[in-house]
Amino acid sequence: MENIENQDFKQIGSKLLDWYKKNARDLPFRQTKDPYKIWICEIVFQQTRISQGLNHYNNFVKRFPDVKTLAEAPEDEVLLYWKGLGYYSRAINIHKAAQQIMTDYYGVFPHDYEEILKLKGIGKYTAAAVSSICFDSKMPAVDGNFYRVLSRIFADDFDISNSRAFNYFSELAQLVLPENVGDFNQAMMDLGSEICKPKNPLCHECPLNQDCLAFQLNKVSEFPVKTKKVKAADLDLKYYFVHRNGQFLIQQRKDDFIWKKLFEFPPEISEELMPFIKSVKNVNHKLTHKNLSIEIFNVEVDSESVWEDFIIKNQYIITDFEGSHEKSFPKPLENYIQNYHTAYRIL
Ligand code: ADE
Repeated sequence: MENIENQDFKQIGSKLLDWYKKNARDLPFRQTKDPYKIWICEIVFQQTRISQGLNHYNNFVKRFPDVKTLAEAPEDEVLLYWKGLGYYSRAINIHKAAQQIMTDYYGVFPHDYEEILKLKGIGKYTAAAVSSICFDSKMPAVDGNFYRVLSRIFADDFDISNSRAFNYFSELAQLVLPENVGDFNQAMMDLGSEICKPKNPLCHECPLNQDCLAFQLNKVSEFPVKTKKVKAADLDLKYYFVHRNGQFLIQQRKDDFIWKKLFEFPPEISEELMPFIKSVKNVNHKLTHKNLSIEIFNVEVDSESVWEDFIIKNQYIITDFEGSHEKSFPKPLENYIQNYHTAYRIL
């Protein structure tokens, strides 16, 4: 960064804003400056593509239109509205943060970056996005888009897997930051997802191609530089799909490490149920930091007394295909229920 400090890079920020004025995507959360709605959208769209999450976002803010409604809703219902989006800890944190706003901020969404940062589940990116879009703070919302766009513009080989990358790119962003940081942040999001894409970027359509050193050097594919790959750990899981006359058994997970608070099938069965095992299905499923191998045993219980004993001893919840729509399951278990229903029509 040393030898570029004296140049005028602010025109890069203004060019991007001009481009954004003409090309901003027409998204429902762009019609509002309500910090509650912007917060929800930032959490939803941080890990979910706009096309995939838009219906969820609309349904969520329709059912929970403000902080108070969300804070007062039962957690299970909040989880239900998150169904299909994955990363459910986001929904649990949103719910807790809404309660925090009610108790610590008299129900008024805090205006200040540092205060917003104190809310459960809100990190530097989200606090910067919400405070800049809604309250005109000057904080760049640095995320993967910023790393990619800035590293290409400056042909900067700072390793984005380095723990100092966030601070480094926050400083680099200062060089180009215009007055209107809220729009600039959203312009970076749009440029990063529509033009300056990770693969096959559309450099010839990019408003910054004349300023982009990587483009000028024909080295766009070399940026950003990332050395470390986080290796996903392998994890084996067993589940028992215990069912009788169209009903089956579930429980809510407590574990923190994956699928917190989602519903699952029994992870073990007693000896009396072993004779009822009809088949087993193996499913592989990838999470961000885990490769799961799941064995799901189909346990069709003919005996009413064995079925009842098992439920009473283990306090499982009884549900059926219809009822399962009211609960959130990990994707592979949801698929299993759906396939079973489709194949046998007995649920
Ligand atoms: N992704 C996350 N937040 C966004 C926003 N405000 N605009 C566009 N894409 C986004």
